[in-house]
Amino acid sequence: MERDRRGIKERLDKIREEFFAQIKEISSPVQMQEIKARYIGRKGELTQLLKGLKDLSPDERPHIGRLVNDLKKEIQSFIQQVSLSFSFLQGKKEDITLPGVFSSLGHLHPLTQVINQIEDIFKRLNFRVVEGQEIEDEYHNFEALNIPLDHPSRDAFDTFYLSSPEHLLLRSQTSTVQIRVMEKEKPPLRIISAGRVFRPDATDASHSCVFHQVEGFMVDKEVSLANLKAILAEFISQMFGEEVKMRFRAHYFPFTEPSAEVDISCLLCKGRGCSVCASKGWLEILGAGMIHPRVFEKVGYDPEKVSGFAFGMGVERIAMLKFNIQDIRLFFENDIRFLQQF
Ligand code: DAH
Repeated sequence: MERDRRGIKERLDKIREEFFAQIKEISSPVQMQEIKARYIGRKGELTQLLKGLKDLSPDERPHIGRLVNDLKKEIQSFIQQVSLSFSFLQGKKEDITLPGVFSSLGHLHPLTQVINQIEDIFKRLNFRVVEGQEIEDEYHNFEALNIPLDHPSRDAFDTFYLSSPEHLLLRSQTSTVQIRVMEKEKPPLRIISAGRVFRPDATDASHSCVFHQVEGFMVDKEVSLANLKAILAEFISQMFGEEVKMRFRAHYFPFTEPSAEVDISCLLCKGRGCSVCASKGWLEILGAGMIHPRVFEKVGYDPEKVSGFAFGMGVERIAMLKFNIQDIRLFFENDIRFLQQF
């Protein structure tokens, strides 16, 4: 009897030792189930031992029985703990109450936002958005816009030429779109077109050799300067606010006659004069005018039968005024701390 008892005790100790050694090594719930079956399952070692209790003498039975049961409980509760931590780990993957892993969402570049806003205003005024081309030829960038080879104003618009094929260049103004559209289509036309332009300007706080313009024009029978004023007044009030004033200043552009530069009352000082408007009270925002008869002739329109207006504005300039940005270079440096503010 004594031997039996010692034998069982030894066996229990061994089982205990093995169990803890094995449970330490497991790495999956499946392995845990296997161990559970091995020790306390229907055919498990402890279960077998418990079944064998009936072979012991009645006075031995309770004592040995308690030892076996104690170990069974110990193993059971340990298995429960381990399975809890497994389900916690597993649950973690699927716990829909845990906050997700956020990837930061980007947003549109401030220049794109301004272009979209300008286009939206003109779309509501029945203008159609078209895309121009950045690579142009001399004819479309200059001649067709009534800027002859030897014309002094060509200097201001001069640009980057491609080495091959020769005579191709990066457009210096979006006014080229006027020609491209009129060559293909007949009036009535109401067009708006945004895009990049290129000039060999030295870069500083207000100049960049690459910038963006929006060109707009309308051609029909009997389009007048009054129509131009009405459209621009509507645009300015939607873009900058109803209280903003507008003025036309006589100017010269080769492709319009008459031509004007259009100013708005300073957004900061409201016309009283401040450092933003150089004490003038006004800010220049675009060039405009009535399309020159020679431009119509170049595209095969009869200037006696049709008339039209055109205007062009710098997107960076508008964005700088709207957001009160002092340096044009900020738009192109890709500094996320700057871009995130818009
Ligand atoms: N293309 C001119 C420039 O780059 C802007 C401009 C002025 C466009 C008058 C026009 C216009 O359509 O009528 O400075």
